[in-house]
Amino acid sequence: MEQEQSQQTPLVDFGNRIKQAFFPTQEADDDRGRMRTVLNSLILHLHPTKVVKRSLSLTYTWGLGGLSALLVVILAFTGILLTKYYTPSPDQAYYDIINLQSNVVFGELIRNVHHWSANLMIITTVLHLLRVFFTGAYRLPRAFNWVLGIIMLVLVLGANFTGYLLPWDQLAFWAITVATSVVSYIPIIGPEMSRMLLGGPEVGTATLLNFYSLHIGVIPIAMVILMSFHFWRVRKDGGITVARKVNEDIVEKPEKLTTLPNLVNKEVAFGLVWIAILLAFSMLVPAPLEEIANPMISPNPAKAAWYFLGLQELILHFHPIFGAVLIPGTALVLLVFLPFYDFSTQNEGIYFRSKRGRWLTGIAVLSSLILTPLWIVLDEYFLNWSNWLPDWPSIITTGVIPVAFILLGIVTLSEVIHWIFEINTEERVMFLVTFFFTALIVLTLTGIFFRGPGMALYLPWNMPVVTGH
Ligand code: HEM
Repeated sequence: MEQEQSQQTPLVDFGNRIKQAFFPTQEADDDRGRMRTVLNSLILHLHPTKVVKRSLSLTYTWGLGGLSALLVVILAFTGILLTKYYTPSPDQAYYDIINLQSNVVFGELIRNVHHWSANLMIITTVLHLLRVFFTGAYRLPRAFNWVLGIIMLVLVLGANFTGYLLPWDQLAFWAITVATSVVSYIPIIGPEMSRMLLGGPEVGTATLLNFYSLHIGVIPIAMVILMSFHFWRVRKDGGITVARKVNEDIVEKPEKLTTLPNLVNKEVAFGLVWIAILLAFSMLVPAPLEEIANPMISPNPAKAAWYFLGLQELILHFHPIFGAVLIPGTALVLLVFLPFYDFSTQNEGIYFRSKRGRWLTGIAVLSSLILTPLWIVLDEYFLNWSNWLPDWPSIITTGVIPVAFILLGIVTLSEVIHWIFEINTEERVMFLVTFFFTALIVLTLTGIFFRGPGMALYLPWNMPVVTGH
């Protein structure tokens, strides 16, 4: 290289220097230089040329949006490889997976990476949503990106759900049977929607084909389009939200740094560490695969996939119209419209808004951690409105009455908090969202660890083993 440079005439050397002065990213005219120029331009299409210094702190975003994006790339890459060895037919699918794991070089590893990345993605996307929520980064002008984010979260769940069926083992078959039965509870359109999704009255050949085309076609395409839009909006909205306040009173113009190398170096290091973690985990922990699907033998308990167990838990406590439709539907609609009833522009980019906000969040988590399990146990063993009011329709005794009591309890709790701390609307919203989100986690953990045969409550260490009936 040095020899090559020394052979350049002074005129060419002078020309290169001028070029460097005007196009600093443009390297010398060799192959590596050209590659770097192309790469740099690509990066600067994704990122602005400069970013606010404070937004680079890992403990602010925790890299969760970036990690979700990295997982999409890993999933696309491993997913394309998996399709080479997979046929979406009930006679073939399961044996294709066995063949992939036993006869294809790195086949099992590729399946494991795909499986664990998909599961991790649910967690990273939800945590990213919480980061955005707790730093108040969802408010105008970012409201649109918040709504896009919710649609992407639904797509992430949809991708996981449709992928779950593909190995066609007992786990897949029964989890999808349980989850799709929920759809039929939707009034009027439910039964028809369930038929459309399943391609018939129950899980079968048409379901596998439907799920396969959603999983490898419709959902990934929608995801790529929405993700591009999401990133473009982050740029349009002036980058990510950062605190303008340095402390209580001082407002400062944020210091900016160039994206290259400050942001990109961090992203590359972060991405490589996560790829290493995923590879190591996938080498040690195999993705589950049970026996081939058998529609005649249902496992006991028949559970949905872990990320829908919170929903399944709700259905165990409420009338299906409430548990499967009204409660989750209302929660989703309220979440979508969150930016439109919290107009405050105060304390953007500050976790939990303020010191008082941190206390409130802590109290919300703690009270939900106490009240939700208490309610699960009360409802399971003691409250029995159907027996107490035998002539009343079940939608009243297992729907309207318990929901009314719960709402009354929550309104009272939020009023007590308001009375003690004199909270404003913004803080009340944060308190309630935190309370309900913690409740969702408790419900999900109950479904995963504390439900055994017959979906009865058990302590995990006392759980009887039942294989099927
Ligand atoms: C596939 C899923 C998703 C991907 C790949 C993704 C990616 C990203 C990335 C890379 C950023 C830049 C900042 C950061 O890393 O935190 C970002 C910002 C943002 N995301 Fe997401 N996101 C996803 C889902 C969501 C969800 C579920 C929501 C909320 C409902 C959301 C709302 C937002 C908002 C409002 C911003 C701007 C944040 C700010 O200004 O601080 N995103 N997203």
